[in-house]
Amino acid sequence: MKQIRAAIKGTGSALPRNKVSNAQLAMRVDTSDEWITERTGIKFRHIAEDDETTSSLAADAAKEALKSANMAASDIDLIIVATATPDQTFPATATIVQNIIGANGGVAFDVAAVCSGFLYAFSVAESMIRAGSATNALVIGSETFSRILDWEDRTTCVLFGDGAGAVVLCADDSGKGALATKLHADGAHNQLLYVDGGPSTTGTVGKLRMKGREVFRHAVVNLTNVLLETLESAGVVPSDVDWVVPHQANARIIDGTAKKLKLPIDKVIKTVDQHANTSAASVPLALDVAIRDGRIKEGDILVLEAMGGGFTWGASVVQY
Ligand code: UT7
Repeated sequence: MKQIRAAIKGTGSALPRNKVSNAQLAMRVDTSDEWITERTGIKFRHIAEDDETTSSLAADAAKEALKSANMAASDIDLIIVATATPDQTFPATATIVQNIIGANGGVAFDVAAVCSGFLYAFSVAESMIRAGSATNALVIGSETFSRILDWEDRTTCVLFGDGAGAVVLCADDSGKGALATKLHADGAHNQLLYVDGGPSTTGTVGKLRMKGREVFRHAVVNLTNVLLETLESAGVVPSDVDWVVPHQANARIIDGTAKKLKLPIDKVIKTVDQHANTSAASVPLALDVAIRDGRIKEGDILVLEAMGGGFTWGASVVQY
């Protein structure tokens, strides 16, 4: 019997209308284009307006992904939304998206693993597909981090942006699809990247707080280790990799990790300059950009990776 894997059949993304440059930010925050570009590689970020929410961006990205997969919403039996900025504490944003796109009746839930959320959601979806409990899944990363930023804190507010990316994952027996996925978490580092509020503690939404330098240090080490672990599990050596699609937090983290793995930097998809750090949305957003511009082609070996608050981190090796 042929092995069932979860294969990527379509991708889509959505960005808020308002694109904000570093120079525009420098008019309201004590910062400069020079500092942001040099330390992070970020040039622009999209900021949601009042009518743009995590669910509306997620639904727009999902519709694009369905279109590219040539599938209808009624074909979908699983929706997972990875987000740290849900529309409401409950219901799950995935159920709101399900209702907007008209995929009612299947399974729908959210996953909270912050910037690694897409990798966590992807892993759950591909496991459910392999186990036979889902056939066609929408895995979405969607965030409106602008709503949890402290706009008085220049050390964090310049780093993040809003957006959504979606992937249609389908049961497939052709040999392509997710070859190996590895996830990790270490709650000992909760206080290096967190939100200082919540329904069960302060009763408020809270604002993002980060000790950036320490997060940076852990990111390169954790990502390098999980990439090696996942490649080995997939039976893939770094020279077999066609494209790395990393979490887009900081160009220096992306370059540092590629260097440690001896991966040529021109094999790494970078959108951090245009989108900044969109948390759970960043990997599917970058994936969609590189598929649509023709860099990623059918049959390519991809490596997806992310690290974020918790800490959480993970990677997946996928044949597209
Ligand atoms: O997605 C989840 C994972 N998150 C990340 O991966 C983020 C990881 N961290 C980073 O990307 C980097 O640590 C940052 C970009 C956040 C900061 O870069 P850094 O090179 O580690 O800078 P730093 O925090 O050590 O700050 C250096 C200086 C400080 O000034 P002094 O104390 O040296 O005088 C800051 O006050 O830069 C100053 N600074 C700024 N200056 C202008 C901090 N933020 C800004 C700013 N504009 N926006």
